[in-house]
Amino acid sequence: MKVAILGYGKMGHELERLFVEAGDEVVTKIDNEEDWKNQGEALRTADVAVEFSMPTTAVSNLFRCFDANVPVVCGTTGWANDADKVLEKCKATSNALVYGANFSIGANLFFKINELLAKMMNNQPQYEVTVEETHHTQKKDAPSGTAITTANLIVNQLDRKNGWFLNDAAAAVQEDKIAVTAHRLGNEAGTHIVHYQSDSDYLEITHKAFSRTIFAQGAVRAAHWLVNNKGIYLFNDIFMQI
Ligand SMILES: NC(=O)c1ccc[n+]([C@@H]2O[C@H](COP(=O)([O-])OP(=O)(O)OC[C@H]3O[C@@H](n4cnc5c(N)ncnc54)[C@H](O)[C@@H]3O)[C@@H](O)[C@H]2O)c1
Repeated sequence: MKVAILGYGKMGHELERLFVEAGDEVVTKIDNEEDWKNQGEALRTADVAVEFSMPTTAVSNLFRCFDANVPVVCGTTGWANDADKVLEKCKATSNALVYGANFSIGANLFFKINELLAKMMNNQPQYEVTVEETHHTQKKDAPSGTAITTANLIVNQLDRKNGWFLNDAAAAVQEDKIAVTAHRLGNEAGTHIVHYQSDSDYLEITHKAFSRTIFAQGAVRAAHWLVNNKGIYLFNDIFMQI
């Protein structure tokens, strides 16, 4: 399989290592606008592209994949405000896209477990729910896409919550919303915790990634899956199949 790597930072390097290990050929690695000028044409020769760049560059990179008619797996987070126009363009050009806030299988099990738990907690108003995440200091967005996905899926199940807020120093407590706390620490690959606390007890569900390899493995598996499929998928939709 011929692969284009869009965003050759920490994830891009890990992806290259795993694709090469899997016997795939990396036809181009693009890490900035200069690379797009010099090597952008090579995108057209790829069977699939993987996009792990930055919140500010993901959308234009996805558009480039759609224009080149190359299926794309996008793990970059922080572009939710532009999601409608991305999905529209993908559909209009009959392209294929897998995207998601978290490409680890464990984190997707964490989503499913939290959905189920929140459903059961709807009848247990004595529990207050909060979400907490910790990532490395170079992470650009806060809270993480995974924390936002988790908070939203809990909100969808709990009648007593209608949204979430970033629980930073300036935040005022909002009883009807879930407090999401974001920590930036060292080289942490990503820890997410959902807390439920009553006056008498405490329950938590945790997912902790030990390294970026787990996300890159998910992206490589999604890329192999996507070359044989058409349409738009959340990683969450396909992870049971890969
Ligand atoms: N979905 C997941 O499972 C998952 C897992 C890890 C990271 N991420 C996300 O993936 C993204 C990348 O993470 P990272 O840790 O590799 O970040 P990083 O900062 O190490 O790498 C991003 C790279 O993008 C490059 N870039 C800048 N402009 C570009 C452009 N126009 N085209 C292509 N590349 C360009 C930068 O030079 C940089 O090297 C982040 O948004 C992060 O939150 C998602």
